[in-house]
Amino acid sequence: MTRRPDMAPQDLFAASLLEREALSPGARLLRGFARDDAPTLIDAVNKIANSAPFRCMATPGGRKMSVEMTNCGTAGWISDKRGYRYESEDPASGQPWPAMPETFLNLATRAATAGEFDGFEPDACLINRYSPGTRLSLHQDRDEQDFNAPIVSVSLGLSAIFLFGGDKRSGRPQRIRLDSGDVVVWGGPARLNFHGIAPIAEGCHPLTGRNRINLTFRKAL
Ligand code: SIN
Ligand code: FE2
Repeated sequence: MTRRPDMAPQDLFAASLLEREALSPGARLLRGFARDDAPTLIDAVNKIANSAPFRCMATPGGRKMSVEMTNCGTAGWISDKRGYRYESEDPASGQPWPAMPETFLNLATRAATAGEFDGFEPDACLINRYSPGTRLSLHQDRDEQDFNAPIVSVSLGLSAIFLFGGDKRSGRPQRIRLDSGDVVVWGGPARLNFHGIAPIAEGCHPLTGRNRINLTFRKAL
């Protein structure tokens, strides 16, 4: 961090606890923002997966995604041969997706504020589970009804290389290492930036074993 002679010692201390790296205009990496909450978040993910189990969804082209997914909130993101969309029910059970836990909401709104997007009210949380070797190819998050709200993405467990590009698929994306507890917030001019996850390296994490869990919070409806 650069020296800020104008800052009081207590502010300098607070700023050093929360490193906010600008990835591009509208996109920020909040290193370690969710580190303290990580065990509670993982407990909540396990409860959600008891009623809405992780599954590999089919792409519209008929392939199976390698990343396993589930959702919580009033809307859940799904993919099948009819396309990508949000549904209020889990197609596997016909039941509503599990409610979004208070700990999720609280973290997502605090992270959005830290990323300079006030008033974020997510109604959907897509939960991705990656095992070593799985990846998520470059894509835009564009199935939401309006693009004013940001995306808040929370990394837990095994580390990953986050690919973060611009608003076109072409061009070389930034490669950013994300560790457990790191949060990325993107919105405004970065809302439709292409992003993805490079193949996950082999490893074992005390919280998640051979998995990386990612929570992406969205305002879908
Ligand atoms: C996503 O784009 O849905 C997930 C990104 C990530 O796993 O970090
Ligand atoms: Fe995404």
